[in-house]
Amino acid sequence: MRTPQVVRDPSLPERVTIYEVGPRDGLQNESAVVPLETKAAFLRRLVEAGLPVVEATSFVHPKWVPQLADAADLVDAIAERGLDRVDGRTVPMPVLVPNERGLDRALERGVRHIAIFGSATETFAQRNLNRSLDEQFTMFEPTVRRAREAGMDVRAYISMCFGDPWEGDVPVDQVVSVGKRLFDLGASQLSLGDTIGVGTPGHVAALLAAFNEAGLPNTDLAMHFHDTYGQALSNTQAALRAGVTTFDASAGGLGGCPYAESATGNLATEDLVWMLHGLGIDTGVDLDRLVATSVWMAGQLGRPSPSRVVNALAGG
Ligand code: HMG
Ligand code: MG
Repeated sequence: MRTPQVVRDPSLPERVTIYEVGPRDGLQNESAVVPLETKAAFLRRLVEAGLPVVEATSFVHPKWVPQLADAADLVDAIAERGLDRVDGRTVPMPVLVPNERGLDRALERGVRHIAIFGSATETFAQRNLNRSLDEQFTMFEPTVRRAREAGMDVRAYISMCFGDPWEGDVPVDQVVSVGKRLFDLGASQLSLGDTIGVGTPGHVAALLAAFNEAGLPNTDLAMHFHDTYGQALSNTQAALRAGVTTFDASAGGLGGCPYAESATGNLATEDLVWMLHGLGIDTGVDLDRLVATSVWMAGQLGRPSPSRVVNALAGG
């Protein structure tokens, strides 16, 4: 299979961690409920393709996200079948947890890595969490405290960092204030979400600079781009230039958010890998295996992958 010609840019990092969200952010947005066996095979294939972190599912209310209602069974399958183990290494498989009920369910299953998900805007906090902007912290505080006491690693997402479908522009200061409050609860990493894909590179640079100014270095930050307006790779480059080294992406470009209609797929992992490898940046990902996985998944879902790289390499 074709590979990009490598022309290294010495001003960019030498290695990037790709945080794969396809099984969670991708499948939560499918109209069809994907069978557990298909999800398990998807996880296995992603691990075998070299992804270093694979977000597996969500312990949210099953009525809110029926596509992931089998979360407990999937986590059991991961443990029983060793789906997170390959070549002697164990790949972290975080799950989304919004509240203490979700945490209890995760603890019962022996989960080690969770992610909470907050909103930078009032409207999305209401729509996604049934809480006001302030109430979300009341929900997260005991969740994170207890998770940390149990020795779990906690990531914190923040949604609507670059724009909100109901509120329009979102001020950088508002995002930083919410992000800092979330991070200070005890998270190890803050993932800045462009939930509806409206961000542009200058905005990315400004937001990162504002976070740095507020005391959060780029080593504490990850970027989570959706590709709705085709800006995800440009935005990735802006964040790389600023020194960010963790990027969320979804195999084949699956994804969206069921509570934000204008959200389409995440940045496709293949598109990200092609660019990073061309820049001489190491990811540990085997692009051939990943493309084969997304072609297989497209067959399972009955529709082609929206990823440009998947289509270029696999011929549609
Ligand atoms: P609520 O209705 O306010 O919940 O929902 P509640 O606390 O009032 O409890 C009501 C009932 O739900 C109770 O049961 C609870 O036990 C139960 P009852 O006593 O009536 O029998 N319950 C639960 N059951 C199972 N698991 C739970 C749970 N919690 C309560 N965890 C809640 C509040 C947060 C649960 C709800 O709003 C919810 O599940 N929201 C999730 C929405 C979601 O998953 N969105 C997609 C993920 S976010 C995203 O995609 C963005 C991201 O990718 C970044 C980006 O792109 O920006 C991360
Ligand atoms: Mg998302």
